[in-house]
Amino acid sequence: MRVRIGDVDWVSRFSELAAAAEAEGDRPSDRWRDRAARFDRMSRTAAGDGGTIEGLALVTRPEDVALDIGAGTGRHAVPLSRRCARVIALEPSPAMRQRLVSRVEEEGLRNVEVRGESWPLPERPAADVVYSAHVVYGIVEIVGFLEAMTAAARRICALLLKLRAPSDALAEVHEAVHGTRRPRRPAALEALAVLHQLGLQASLTIVEGTGRPLVFGDDEDDLRELALRVGVAPDHAGIARVRDALGRTCEREGETWKVADVGPTALVTWPGAGSAADGCAPPAR
Ligand SMILES: C[S@@+](CC[C@H](N)C(=O)[O-])C[C@H]1O[C@@H](n2cnc3c(N)ncnc32)[C@H](O)[C@@H]1O
Repeated sequence: MRVRIGDVDWVSRFSELAAAAEAEGDRPSDRWRDRAARFDRMSRTAAGDGGTIEGLALVTRPEDVALDIGAGTGRHAVPLSRRCARVIALEPSPAMRQRLVSRVEEEGLRNVEVRGESWPLPERPAADVVYSAHVVYGIVEIVGFLEAMTAAARRICALLLKLRAPSDALAEVHEAVHGTRRPRRPAALEALAVLHQLGLQASLTIVEGTGRPLVFGDDEDDLRELALRVGVAPDHAGIARVRDALGRTCEREGETWKVADVGPTALVTWPGAGSAADGCAPPAR
């Protein structure tokens, strides 16, 4: 059944929000070029886990082939490789992919194949689980992306997303720096609405313990990251602008700035095209 919640065209709404956010500011050709090292470091810590293990436990089986779309530096591909028979990790950013390859080698993971293409692929690899974590916030062609996931999945598709996009947490800091409100991005609830509009029977499960506010330290590394995330050069002047904006918009606790809360992480799942009835049920906890 196709459901259009609140009479809103969620496909258009999702695409408009993603497009407006994507159009913001100049970006290097590899937008992760200056952020991949820190992303790698953070995603290896317990605090940077972001609901990974809990999310994966809900959708995987030991015999599975899993496709991880937008694998980043391996935050999910690495635990996936320990839970599944084989992982295909797609990562188009050279900076992210380089870290991913290093991590796979470092951990001696022989069942992970790293590929550099963007999704959707004309020739889709078949997988039992087709998974994508924190990717679709910026995907304008959302229908092609989701329908290709469905077509590739023998059992289940899953999106791991925050209830609100992580960049929304920085809206006030961005406004204090630039004087303009940043367009907000779509996230888990918009993705759920799109899936139902497409007639896909999706379920949303909140991953417990993931609703932490976004915090940044008052040190150069954190402020540099924040500068990059709000579109300011991460130099001395840029860092000073960001610190000033934090002072005007955020609570400070000791050496950390409490930026904002974008809610917990959610796992959105729906049956793959090759699924039998058991794949259609919401994942059991
Ligand atoms: C925020 S990172 C998330 C990385 C990883 N999934 C995680 O949660 O740690 C988003 C990643 O998606 C990748 N990406 C963006 N668009 C993509 C697409 N169309 N196909 C595959 N990957 C994409 C980016 O290069 C980036 O590495």
